[in-house]
Amino acid sequence: MPHTLRRLEDIGPVYGKRVLVRVDFNVPTDPQTGYIGDETRIQAVLPTLNTLLHDGARVIVMSHKGRPRGWDESESLAPVVRYLQSVLPYPVRFVDSIISDETTEAVNALKPGEMLVLQNLRFDPREKANDPGFARALASLGDVYVDDAFSTAHRADASIVGVPQYLPAYAGHLMETEVETLERLLGRPAVPYWAIVGGAKVPDKLLMLSRLMDKLNGLVLGGAMANTFLAAQGHSLGHSLRGQGMEGQAKDILDKAQTQHIPVLLPEDVIVAPAVGPNVPSRLCLVDDIHEDEMIVDIGPATVQKIVQAIEPAKTLLWNGPMGVFEYDAFAYGTIALANKVADLNCSVVIGGGDTVAAITKAGVTARITHISTGGGALLQWVEGEELPGLQALYS
Ligand code: 3PG
Repeated sequence: MPHTLRRLEDIGPVYGKRVLVRVDFNVPTDPQTGYIGDETRIQAVLPTLNTLLHDGARVIVMSHKGRPRGWDESESLAPVVRYLQSVLPYPVRFVDSIISDETTEAVNALKPGEMLVLQNLRFDPREKANDPGFARALASLGDVYVDDAFSTAHRADASIVGVPQYLPAYAGHLMETEVETLERLLGRPAVPYWAIVGGAKVPDKLLMLSRLMDKLNGLVLGGAMANTFLAAQGHSLGHSLRGQGMEGQAKDILDKAQTQHIPVLLPEDVIVAPAVGPNVPSRLCLVDDIHEDEMIVDIGPATVQKIVQAIEPAKTLLWNGPMGVFEYDAFAYGTIALANKVADLNCSVVIGGGDTVAAITKAGVTARITHISTGGGALLQWVEGEELPGLQALYS
């Protein structure tokens, strides 16, 4: 039987109700200025927040940000709250606390149509540990739970799988749209189906890649992901970022691809630099000519050309993870060139992951992409066919 998500509309009247909403405000912020580098994930949950506030709910918002070890001001949600105060036409308050008397008082003081944002959930280790006491304490702040954090649905954390054990749970508008759209575009993807996987979260993505291979007709690797595979092939990569000790896993995936006749494209020419930063000298070289004191920061033009030719016939394309450190203009060539080519393709293109979405925005091609997902790891896990724990809690 197909799963059906319990939706926001199924809650019934929310006026005066305390609605506890899990969102994903894991967005890049400048620790000095608080400037938000990419607002996509915040913008994406505004429909849910606006609906609830308009209907007179007392909204309590919770999110994680980054991977802090304990209380770490550089990962505070305060900058996100300032942004929300500037875009929402409702009172938005912030409590620099998670579970405390201060939080309880702030929740009790909320009037219909007002919102309170709690501090970063990951400042408390009980969030990642899915501690039942912590989940119960969070749940006690609300009457109803709404999950609008598709991009965190692959994490079995307290605010995602623990809280819905104590409260009636519903999917927000974003969660619903993501699941419906992905089902339509990637449920039975038109073939040839290619994926581009790059970026830095190598351990997480390697685990998923092996199963993803069963669905694909071709795979392109870039960024630190590709470096792990290049290292597995025996290339000396200087101090390039890569999944240390994961060469064996990468090799298994390459073997599997060969057995299944799935082409895997790895960089052949790359841009290297002694370090990542502004005004750093860099040079173009082949992957077997990288010096000990250099690191890969981008793919080169021959690699871009090869990728473009390979993905040209694709009818479905999934892209997660940039090709290099595109945040610096000097290292953005490969990612931006690829973004422009991908936007020109005559096929369904699904892009996900905070960095990839930021790269697409930087390239100015957002409007030409079929679907931009807020999910990175969650998107990959959904695509490979594994059930997301966050979604399971929302099915009727
Ligand atoms: C993401 O950015 O993919 C989500 O916010 C999850 O973050 P995590 O990988 O740190 O759990």
